[in-house]
Amino acid sequence: MVSCAADVEIQPAPSFRGRFRLSGDKSLSHRLALFAALAHGRTRLDNFGTSADNASTLACLQALGAGVHREGGAVEVEGRGFEGLRDPGADLDCGNSGSTLRMLAGVLAGRPFRSVLTGDASLRRRPVERVALPLRLMGARAESTDGRPPLVIEGGPLRAIRYDQKIASAQVKTAVLLAGLQAEGRTTVSEPELSRDHTERLLPVFGVPVLREGLAVSLDGGARLRAPAERLEVPGDASSAAFLLVAALVLPDSEVRVENVLLNATRTAFLDVLREMGAALDVEVTQNEPEPVGTVTARTSALRGVTVRPELVPSLIDEVPILAVAAARAEGTFRLTGAAELRVKESDRLAALAEGLSRLGASVEELPDGLVIQGGRPLRGAEVRAHDDHRIAMSLAVAGLCASGVTRIEGAECASVSFPEFYGYLAQGTGRG
Ligand code: S3P
Repeated sequence: MVSCAADVEIQPAPSFRGRFRLSGDKSLSHRLALFAALAHGRTRLDNFGTSADNASTLACLQALGAGVHREGGAVEVEGRGFEGLRDPGADLDCGNSGSTLRMLAGVLAGRPFRSVLTGDASLRRRPVERVALPLRLMGARAESTDGRPPLVIEGGPLRAIRYDQKIASAQVKTAVLLAGLQAEGRTTVSEPELSRDHTERLLPVFGVPVLREGLAVSLDGGARLRAPAERLEVPGDASSAAFLLVAALVLPDSEVRVENVLLNATRTAFLDVLREMGAALDVEVTQNEPEPVGTVTARTSALRGVTVRPELVPSLIDEVPILAVAAARAEGTFRLTGAAELRVKESDRLAALAEGLSRLGASVEELPDGLVIQGGRPLRGAEVRAHDDHRIAMSLAVAGLCASGVTRIEGAECASVSFPEFYGYLAQGTGRG
């Protein structure tokens, strides 16, 4: 479990500069570890994510009987197929990680034992019916506690379904597809907008054919996953990169280069929005398959507010907190709607942002499904709260860099849920490292 207790003090910074290579993307690391555990054979994953969330996934896989060895930045996973998973004999602790809990639910729905998926206080407040419902339709017994974890699953034989998601969720899409691999027949999941498509891109790396038609993804039950012959390198975390890039955009005399970073379009809509806001960003793609990877450079920019198109929201959902900081530093009005999902992330992110940025002096209006930010007001240091949410902590830290006076973030250490190196890199980039 991650302790979110320690506070952090942020001093104003004159500039932010540096060259960074980040630890493996969190979404990719979860999936690669999971697929490797379900595959036959040994998979080596280089630059595996250092996030506490990824450690939660590895711990759960180990409890389920997969061989997991971590050495430096690499992880080796020895899988024995779906059939190799065994009754963990105790609750599976997913820590703070919604992805771990929801994606594992899809695996466990087809296993012939009872499992209990749970996590820390923040995770136990988050909705899980969205994943329990389709798994029940497929024949599993899945019971939540008033719609939240612990989620108790009694797995067994599954039937294939076509499931049309009302809200785009990559975690639910993945869970249904993983259950579908254990079902008889073809399982299809569709979504109203495209959510991150890593599962669709990475299952074929493990030998599983995936069919994509518009916003629908299908696969056939019974396909066997096999470990790839070559070691896989996980590209740097796209969401972590966003904090460093925005720090460079909003501080004077700044330049940041992030190399070997994931550039999947279902994750990089924040770059498009920042560009529209006037950001000086250079993107160089160095690899396209199975996931686009490259280098992004950001330089100090005069930003202006924009209206974010709601259909882009799933592709920038995790970057809204740091985009809000960019908006507070921009001239004019920034408007975001269609983002009610932010209320059920690690915290109610709309409320947490409105509270934190307002305390720092920004003008933020909270909408039921979004935010309106009037930019350009000077920020001043204040006491703010992370709300047990890594991305709120890191966003307020970047805002603190451009405030006058000291910003104290209560519970800021929870940044390690996704980006343990964050405060070290912040010190490095501001010349205090
Ligand atoms: C994730 C999907 C997103 C995102 C989360 C990670 C994933 O949630 O917010 O941080 O790795 O699949 P949804 O399942 O709501 O798309």
